[in-house]
Amino acid sequence: MKSYPPPKEFVATARIKHSALEKLRKEGIRSPVEFWERQAEHLLWKKRWTKAFVRKHPHVQWFVGGTLNAAENCLDRHVTTWRKTKAALIWEGEPGEIRTLTYGQLHSEVCRCANVLTELGVKKGDVVAIYMGMVPEAVIAMLACARIGATHNVVFGGFSADALRERVIDSGAVCVITQDAAYRRGDTVLLKSAVDEALSKVKSVKNVIVYKRTTLSTPMKKGRDVWWHDVMCTASIVHKAPALPSEHPLFILYTSGSTGKPKGILHTTGGYLVQTTWTAQNVFDLRDDDIYFCTADIGWVTGHSYIVYGPLSNGATIVMYEGAPNWPKADRFWDMIERHRVTIFYTAPTAIRAFMKWGDQWPKAHDLTSLRLLGTVGEPINPEVWKWYHDVIGKERCPIVDTWWQTETGAIMIAPIPGATTTVPGTATQPLPGILADVVHKDGTSCKANEAGLLVIKHPWPSIARTVYGNDERYRQAYWSEFPPDKRSGRDGWYFTGDGARRDADGNIWIIGRVDDVVNVSGHRLGTAEVESALVAHPAIAEAAVVARPHEIKGQALVAFVTLKSSAKNVQLEDLREALRKRVADNIGHIAKPDEIRFAEALPKTRSGKIMRRLLRELVTAGTISGDTTTLEDLSVIESLKGNDEE
Ligand code: PRX
Repeated sequence: MKSYPPPKEFVATARIKHSALEKLRKEGIRSPVEFWERQAEHLLWKKRWTKAFVRKHPHVQWFVGGTLNAAENCLDRHVTTWRKTKAALIWEGEPGEIRTLTYGQLHSEVCRCANVLTELGVKKGDVVAIYMGMVPEAVIAMLACARIGATHNVVFGGFSADALRERVIDSGAVCVITQDAAYRRGDTVLLKSAVDEALSKVKSVKNVIVYKRTTLSTPMKKGRDVWWHDVMCTASIVHKAPALPSEHPLFILYTSGSTGKPKGILHTTGGYLVQTTWTAQNVFDLRDDDIYFCTADIGWVTGHSYIVYGPLSNGATIVMYEGAPNWPKADRFWDMIERHRVTIFYTAPTAIRAFMKWGDQWPKAHDLTSLRLLGTVGEPINPEVWKWYHDVIGKERCPIVDTWWQTETGAIMIAPIPGATTTVPGTATQPLPGILADVVHKDGTSCKANEAGLLVIKHPWPSIARTVYGNDERYRQAYWSEFPPDKRSGRDGWYFTGDGARRDADGNIWIIGRVDDVVNVSGHRLGTAEVESALVAHPAIAEAAVVARPHEIKGQALVAFVTLKSSAKNVQLEDLREALRKRVADNIGHIAKPDEIRFAEALPKTRSGKIMRRLLRELVTAGTISGDTTTLEDLSVIESLKGNDEE
């Protein structure tokens, strides 16, 4: 496969060149703790840590004894410099309006919002849910929470009222920040009405703050709801950022696992900020004159780490866009890159696949010469898609950083350093300095070159998730049970990523995909069990099994196999199919609606009664079953499922 050394012009000014990277890697392997301690020096600490790393399996703490404030690191330390008048945030609304907030202005707004929250009684340690679209107020709300030490719980605006309710209840949020509606593909998505529905039986929430984005009329609940503009306009722009312990909870972000209930991934302050700051700076080669555009939604971890905390902590200028990439036409991103002179562009393979399908004429109609670096995240990128991104968008000039990481890792873990790493399409290349990743067999021995195995991280890193909120046992089970501490071999316990991978002879890691029941649909992480539980909640459904099949644009698409209760044998299948899709949209969100629903007489099961999803996966991927079926209870089931295709 063709490889791409960093372009000479890029290397000439790059932050980290090849020899420097080699040195950093060696330091990182010798002592990951010392490596990260050195990077921590670049943050503003109110009090220096006394112990960099403390481990009590499965828990870890970083920079213990140190105090800091994340918002102060992202704002105040820039406001005391020339960056006070530098653009922090260039925002573009879907209808076309543009707002620019300098570091000075963003700082003032965050201080105001911090005062508003305090005035409403939100205290350090409280949880605040944020259910918003892509507006600057979402960033302001997040940083205001961080500033007062409230833990934010951002819920993706594409999730349904039911999904929001579940996340508000699980986190015990005391306040919700939302907006009346968001613009999306020329339409409006009603967020406040979803909040009203979600909160109907929730006791913990005392206040809802509503940012007015549209002209729609919005009912407000007396005593609970306040308008953002009403409370913000009278609030002071003066606010002193308190010192918070390094391990103070910064945010909870729910993500899917292999059971029906989403996990509240908890991240804390110091370690998270150290690693997001270092990776934003060095994986994106971020500098003061860059215009950095990350297309992720604020509701996902990429939005947290690489729209908000990483870039702002570095004093970067970020571009944030509200709407759909094909609104009003399929060239919206290219048009924005041209108009804002974007230099760094970070997006997902699923988006690139869609751009490719829409056609070269769209990017070709725009001047993309301002670009100097491209990035991808979220799923494996097919080499031909990588090549298109490189040639058509990057004009064969821009290095591509394929970044592997997870909600749980908090920050980038495996990625090229653009001025130093020779890239190969389809691999995120090698672990960053200070990250001890390996591909191992189930027994813990390292795989040989090109042998498929499990991706593990052998030493905890600063931005590792600290726990599953309120469920330590699930944390231990999900990430530490595969490779627990082992006295005999002296192993401390390794973090299991849930990903299968192989490492080639050059040391590059190729992600094969998840080995659990987590799927990636259009860059959205979903648990098949969540979708199954939405389906079986329908009165006509007896059992459901959801699997993924490859999809040209989405990466993966969901296929649901369902069996009917005997009482439902006479229902109209077409109506039921629609009802089931609606049920999933109501329970989780539109993103989780299966592409296909197949009705079956029975599902393939082992003798002990477990549904054999592996066989169903094979059926929807290859169209046939060749794998081991010796534990299968009733083989005729497979035949009937195959014949179900024409349904
Ligand atoms: O399977 C890996 C895939 O996305 C999973 C993490 O999903 P999530 O927590 O939603 O975070 C996505 C954004 C950080 C991983 O377990 N994944 C992420 N990045 C890549 C990737 N697979 C291949 N290549 C990547 N660059």
